[in-house]
Amino acid sequence: MAVIGIMDSGCGGLSVLREIRKALPRQRYIYYADNANCPYGEKSPEFIQDRLHAITDMFLQLGASAVVLACNTATSAAIEMLRASYDIPFVGMEPAVKPAALGTVSGVVGVLATAGTLKGSKYLAVKGRFCDGVRVEERVGQGFVELVEKGELNGPAAEQVVRTSLQPLLDEGADRIVLGCTHYPFLLETLRKVASELGHPDVEFIDPAPAVARRLVDVLQQAGIPSEDENPGTELLSSGPRENLLKLAASI
Ligand code: DGL
Repeated sequence: MAVIGIMDSGCGGLSVLREIRKALPRQRYIYYADNANCPYGEKSPEFIQDRLHAITDMFLQLGASAVVLACNTATSAAIEMLRASYDIPFVGMEPAVKPAALGTVSGVVGVLATAGTLKGSKYLAVKGRFCDGVRVEERVGQGFVELVEKGELNGPAAEQVVRTSLQPLLDEGADRIVLGCTHYPFLLETLRKVASELGHPDVEFIDPAPAVARRLVDVLQQAGIPSEDENPGTELLSSGPRENLLKLAASI
């Protein structure tokens, strides 16, 4: 028997839950959206660490054997502190800079993420390790998280928001764009549409969620945590409104 806690500042982590459930379909999950405090992107690391303490304590009370931070910003601010404070495995996000750097033909990689992630030492370390000889252009996906939290994934207004952050990366020649925030994959259709309209139909968007799901499988195995539960399924919890969370969860 095992329960896996999965958290995000809101709905975005559902893009990670989707991949985790493909890898471990018979597991039991508790998904927590801290949407009363969303977005995390501009919050201080101290605030995010306090939230992660409280959320981890809640997961433990609910019987979690491992926790996934399905949030790049929370991973960046808190995963080291959590690993030092608790005796269970934590799996976090890592912006997919490595596959982007390996795959780029133009030599320019674009990264879309929150301000917190782009400033974080984890991202800077990954970039330093894998991006030798590759130019990295970064932009905050301004307004992206808010669109996903509202459930406004398509349409002219969403396209306008997406265009503002995406166009500069394409203008710089990026042919691989890392989605460095777990909310952004929900905007993939709009990102592709806008990229095509701007004359870049072949740009590749890279989502690290499948790699995180594989990592969770390995971590559970190494820790001797069962990969299934006799009561498989997903429970959704949140600190704020549930309407869009339930709608988006039903779509994955
Ligand atoms: N989904 C989150 C991430 O991956 C957080 C977005 C936010 O709350 O700003 O960074």
